[in-house]
Amino acid sequence: MKAFLCSCGNRIPLPEFKEEGVEVFYHDALCSPAGIEFITERWRDDEPIMIAGCSPVVGERYFSRFNPIYINIREQGSYLGHGQEKIGDLIRSGVAWLKATKPIEKKVFDVKSTDILIIGSGVAGLEAARLIGRKAILIERRPYLGGTVADLDRLYPEGTPNSHTLMPLINQVVSGGVRFKPDTEIVSIQGRPGDYRVRLRERKGKVVRCDECGRCLEVCPVEVVDHGIKRKAIFRSPSFPPGYLIDFSTCDLCGECVKVCPGEIILDRSWNEYELHCGGIIVATGLNHFDPVQLSEFGYGRLPNVYTHLEFERKLARGEIKPEKVVIVHCAGSRDERYLDYCSGICCLLGLKEAKLIKDRYPETEVYLLYIDIRVRGELEYLYKELRNLGVKFVGGRPAEIIPKDGRLMVKVEDSLSSTLLKIPADAVVLSTGFVPDKKIFDLLPINLDRERFPKAYDWSELSVDGPPHAILFAGSAREPMSVPDSILDARAKAYRLSHLLSLPRIESHHPVSVIDEERCSLCSLCIQNCPYGALQKEEKVRSDPAVCMGCGVCVATCPSGAANLESYETGGLMAAVESLTKEGTILAFLCRWSAYPAADQAYPIGYPESVRIIRVPCSGRVDPQLILKGFELGARAVLIGGCYPEACHYHTGNIKERRRIKLLHALDGIVDPRRLRIEWIGTDEAAKFVRVVEELEKA
Ligand code: FES
Repeated sequence: MKAFLCSCGNRIPLPEFKEEGVEVFYHDALCSPAGIEFITERWRDDEPIMIAGCSPVVGERYFSRFNPIYINIREQGSYLGHGQEKIGDLIRSGVAWLKATKPIEKKVFDVKSTDILIIGSGVAGLEAARLIGRKAILIERRPYLGGTVADLDRLYPEGTPNSHTLMPLINQVVSGGVRFKPDTEIVSIQGRPGDYRVRLRERKGKVVRCDECGRCLEVCPVEVVDHGIKRKAIFRSPSFPPGYLIDFSTCDLCGECVKVCPGEIILDRSWNEYELHCGGIIVATGLNHFDPVQLSEFGYGRLPNVYTHLEFERKLARGEIKPEKVVIVHCAGSRDERYLDYCSGICCLLGLKEAKLIKDRYPETEVYLLYIDIRVRGELEYLYKELRNLGVKFVGGRPAEIIPKDGRLMVKVEDSLSSTLLKIPADAVVLSTGFVPDKKIFDLLPINLDRERFPKAYDWSELSVDGPPHAILFAGSAREPMSVPDSILDARAKAYRLSHLLSLPRIESHHPVSVIDEERCSLCSLCIQNCPYGALQKEEKVRSDPAVCMGCGVCVATCPSGAANLESYETGGLMAAVESLTKEGTILAFLCRWSAYPAADQAYPIGYPESVRIIRVPCSGRVDPQLILKGFELGARAVLIGGCYPEACHYHTGNIKERRRIKLLHALDGIVDPRRLRIEWIGTDEAAKFVRVVEELEKA
């Protein structure tokens, strides 16, 4: 067992340190090439080591292959001017932790297939498929390519026709050897990086040969409304494949089209199910529109001429409407606790685009744009100015209601700038709604995702140097609402990343994962219910899947029998650290590596009490009550848990789960004084907040 102590160019006064069973090495600059060589020469593969020196935020750049336990004696010691006693305590805690920890097991995932499945053929899916080429299998639940962009008429900012972007992409995909499967859905996905078994079902019915005569359209009796536009169950493809296609979700199989078709149509709604083998998956399912029916005050679905932006755009493009006065309502349902409590990021631009489309087509039309605030970024700011020059009237306010009046619509809104109530008559109202994630695909993936959120948190978990290998990646608006250019760039990044990962014969990783001690496990399943990723399964025993586990440690904090553990952050190791650090009057701080810990790192110019002793955890959700209670038992004045803000936890809701636990501890009357146990959300740039909180705890 080895401990490496670094003086960081003599900026840290290192104490003489001895510990039985531990070889201690001193160095002046472990992060230098000579320092790394120094460790390499002494390190046996997979042997746990401790490095005491600068912050792990810096250390991870140099030492991650050694998987060390990091002890920060610079930002938490010498930079603060804290004495040798504290530095000694910190080193002792690291060594105690080291002695209680086991080597992190190497995870090896053989790459058994280099094919990549791409789910969804919008611009992100198409771009990923274009780059991956012959190794790509592109599936699409609709019978044609193009996703949301194929439904649009124009793209912002300038109203470029959608075909301008879509068709060159489609041409390259089709000519690039990509295996394209339309009218195909996922049934199930199982497996791990490099080796996924995907069950697919493909519609048996299809238009086999079409000479585009259009007779089928004349005889089809089924009329459907597709985003504001009436069409038949058989319809002309908006993109590729060309010709006429059947929407089997509405087709009544009457057979009229077959009778008149000079080509060949198979009318069969049933599915052909089969299995596909691939090494990685790109989810490019795009976004779903928020359904404004819920916004009863706006009358959508009840009042004629209240449209979503997509419906309005499509009707306008076909000349079905020519309004003289239009009101565009931004943030319809967005940034509103009752519906979507977030900003979808692109709907402002969609609203501006609709305004421009009207003005381009009908310059005399009066356009009002109602907003809470306009969020356009970068160079697109010019669009806002251009629309004002075109006569679009911007009103700061969210409408109170929309009512029918004299055969038109009446929009009531308080102009927040002049504080006057406006009643704007309109021929059409466009609701610029936000977007929601595709929950259906979330349910099918072998990873667990917050069903109410876009999966950004899943992406963040990749940022860690000791994160697991991800072979299921989200691209474009499936990850979060994005513009077309941003979707394309994102898809490119994902395609390259996955292609690179699968170019290796095997994927090796040392990311810490949860392990379950079968002897201790009581099969209560609490860990399974609390795992944010679905990494734990119960068959006869409870097992953790290293291909899925992200290493948050929430299961460990949840397990009542001490059966769950997290490599490198075992309860034994953390407990040993608590015991070494806690004295009478200590403020024990468990800080999330992603937020509060880096904030504390930045706090040395302000300074904070020497009694503060910090333990770094992967997520605030890892902190189990026994660690907290142990701290108090040993005389801690206070315990602080510092985590990411809600919505920013890198493991979905680890922080929220921890907050629940702390509330329970607060309720233990007479055991824990709530003033001395706090959980705080501390952002990476909130050093001052960290200092304020620990100073308050000093006085508690
Ligand atoms: Fe920071 Fe969960 S990752 S609290």
